[in-house]
Amino acid sequence: MRPDLRARLSPIYGPDAPQALELQCERIGRALMRFRQVYGPGPVQLFRAPGRVNLIGEHTDYNHGYVLPMALDKDVILLARPRSDAQVCLENIEADFAPRAFEIGADMPPRPAGDWANYAQGPAQLLAREYGPNLAGCDVLVSGEAPCGVPRGAGLSSSSAFTVAFAVMLVSLNRLPLRGPALADACGRAEWYVGTRGGVMDQFISILAERDRALFLDCRPQPQTGGYTYRQVPIPKGYNVVVVDSCVKHANTGPLFNRRVAEGRIGVRLLREHYPQITHLRDVSDIPWADLEPLLPEAISADALRARGIEPDTILDNGLNPDTDQFQVRRRCRHVISENRRVLQSVAALQAGDMATFGRLMAEAHASARDDYEISTPEIEALVAAASAAPGCCGARLTGAGWGGCIVALVESSAVTAFVHYVTTAYRRQVGIEAEAFICRSAPGAGCLLTTLV
Ligand code: GLA
Repeated sequence: MRPDLRARLSPIYGPDAPQALELQCERIGRALMRFRQVYGPGPVQLFRAPGRVNLIGEHTDYNHGYVLPMALDKDVILLARPRSDAQVCLENIEADFAPRAFEIGADMPPRPAGDWANYAQGPAQLLAREYGPNLAGCDVLVSGEAPCGVPRGAGLSSSSAFTVAFAVMLVSLNRLPLRGPALADACGRAEWYVGTRGGVMDQFISILAERDRALFLDCRPQPQTGGYTYRQVPIPKGYNVVVVDSCVKHANTGPLFNRRVAEGRIGVRLLREHYPQITHLRDVSDIPWADLEPLLPEAISADALRARGIEPDTILDNGLNPDTDQFQVRRRCRHVISENRRVLQSVAALQAGDMATFGRLMAEAHASARDDYEISTPEIEALVAAASAAPGCCGARLTGAGWGGCIVALVESSAVTAFVHYVTTAYRRQVGIEAEAFICRSAPGAGCLLTTLV
């Protein structure tokens, strides 16, 4: 491997992590070989974007609330060569993803839900709409393979990492004036193309991440500038963030996710009858729950909403899934409003080194996600119970959108090896599945690694 590549990779994956660096070098070598086989010899550019784990603040981002994610040192990498036309050719090192091609334009119909090219077409269409129609295309090879890639379908944001890597690449190849928070915001909007109405957390952390730090982000854009407020929060020395993957994936969670988004918006519409100035659940953070609760029905049907002048089909711009006739408004809003408070308290606790409080807030966040947001699963419950009982663990909770995937735990560094053994053994005994655990060694945010790799 060329020394300039190694020098470029070392600060990203950590000078203290020679094994990770070695694996990344091998991975890039394989990708380069494949790129040449498919597209022929010549210079290639190299881009990357990391996945993330969220420490606390789940399902708050699309309600303009607070989040505290951390980037992984697992990422999606793209090898790219600019073209003179607007064509994008996509190859993936993994055989599960068949080659795709499209022409960049302002009106590209999405492919069927779940098609991996949608995560590239989304940012391409958004950039074409916002930066003019003459964007140059490129030949691309994508690598997200294990163990360096972001595990897929595990709630660690592998799709957003791909969207961000693709956007960063198109912006760079076309020399567009877009970076930092504005780029993250654009990537958030670009991902709506796939049909899920997520927030901006995953894209922000993938772009703004710093080593060994979590990102405290206020997901409300400032009204005048559209800018965001955020702060890097160091993880106290002596503790590790550990991710344990239940290895249970739930397919097609998009409609379930959108239903949660809709329930929050319905809550806002109902609260607006009494608080007309509010636009998001974030706006009622300072109002006591006892005042809000009577205004929010436990559940409400589509017909009952219509009777109150709220047309359910206007709640989400792409309409609601027809089997969403009952909306669980009260408990969903209770989760979001209480979770926002927990994030603020957790950031204060982390900065004060008060890990006991941080751990307690993680446990409360988990209970709220399970009972009020109803996004846990029996497998995740088994993992969280085992993790919470393990010596040296400050706190544990489900992380990501839910319905499977991973838990995150904050663990005393000296106890990490025993923790992993304890949790995976308990999970194997109880659920019969081999869980996969790793320490989150956070890496810096997305970018171009090399402009000429030959
Ligand atoms: C997904 C979405 C994010 C966020 C989380 C839940 O990862 O993409 O925007 O809503 O779920 O916190």
